[in-house]
Amino acid sequence: MNQRELFLRHVGQTSAAPLSLEIAKATGCRLFDTAGKEYIDLIGGISVANTGHRHPAIIEAVKKQLDQYLHVMVYGEVVQSPQVQYAKLLADYLPAQLNSVYFTNSGAEAVEGAMKLAKRYTNRTRIIAAKNSYHGSTQGALSILGDEYWRNAYRPLLPDILHIDYNSYEWLHEINESTACVILETVQAEGGIIAPQADWLQTVRKKCSETGALLVLDEIQAGFGRTGKLWGFEHFNVVPDILLLGKALGGGMPLGAFVSDRNIMMALTENPVLGHITTFGGHPVSCAAGLAALKVVLDEQLAETVALKEELFKSLLTHPLIKNINSFGLWMAVDMGTFELNKKLIDTILENETMGVFTDWFLFAASSFRICPPLTISEAEIREACSIIINALNNL
Ligand SMILES: Cc1ncc(COP(=O)(O)O)c(C=O)c1O
Repeated sequence: MNQRELFLRHVGQTSAAPLSLEIAKATGCRLFDTAGKEYIDLIGGISVANTGHRHPAIIEAVKKQLDQYLHVMVYGEVVQSPQVQYAKLLADYLPAQLNSVYFTNSGAEAVEGAMKLAKRYTNRTRIIAAKNSYHGSTQGALSILGDEYWRNAYRPLLPDILHIDYNSYEWLHEINESTACVILETVQAEGGIIAPQADWLQTVRKKCSETGALLVLDEIQAGFGRTGKLWGFEHFNVVPDILLLGKALGGGMPLGAFVSDRNIMMALTENPVLGHITTFGGHPVSCAAGLAALKVVLDEQLAETVALKEELFKSLLTHPLIKNINSFGLWMAVDMGTFELNKKLIDTILENETMGVFTDWFLFAASSFRICPPLTISEAEIREACSIIINALNNL
């Protein structure tokens, strides 16, 4: 059996038709398959590879850490320099009240930790989330996921969850003295890149402050420069009580985090002690990689390059079959009108002979394809990818 057959037989499958590209190597904004074919990566691991695949500074940091130590002890008991240095750098670049970083294995674990922290800190249970939101696939994260199709099969889920319409004032009176937290994606990703109105998000912030509910913003996809600023919330003049990070946080290694003020985070230290336990969360190699990645984002001023690249994509992606583009930085949902047409395009550009283009669709916006490349993508790569897309559309 070849690798693909073994993959289908022995690696747990979650779809009847996985993309099954057989990866041999990834570098910068390019993927290479085992037949030697090259692909321009417009997915970037879904907002993971912000600094490009295998950035030399990250590889060097990982190798250095490999020579020091791997896992030594469950989270929180011993002082590990990569964790400490990374938490410090994050705190340096976050508003003053986001100064305490709890590192997890994944985005979903960060979501779980944040929900627990909000319950502990407020002594309340009600959680308000938004329709069309995606926060991960564990049962707590599924409970706040904003689409019944994706969560229904796993009921019963967490009680006391209310889903409100994103960007609507209608339900904001529901934020009250029994609300533990309101949890929102700063910009809704899987809904098809839906940005909030600044006034709406500010009103949510105000309601939370007035009622003692915590505002939790999920920047697991939005973070690390993708929106054109280091943090998505900077666009809206709002600071959350808890910030959720993941994906690009680890520079290609698994890592998530929830970040709050130290006073809030201290709620996890008593009654019971060890309020959130994780064996591998904040793994030293992941933290070393993430620390190097954030330095690359800052040193190479990657966020500053985003606006021009966003405009270039939008100016090149004009075609009668393209219905609409929702964009917020180097992060776009290109709407083809129907899933069938979208899927046909995605398959066609993947199979394009001279150079493939790698993209997919959104969980709650299946008629749109994703543009979420490494922020390091060059102008030439953008032009090449768009010309392959337009050419495919002309021949569909
Ligand atoms: C906005 C958002 N939140 C949370 C998650 C969950 O992260 P993970 O897959 O690392 O558990 C994701 C993953 O796609 C996400 O996009």
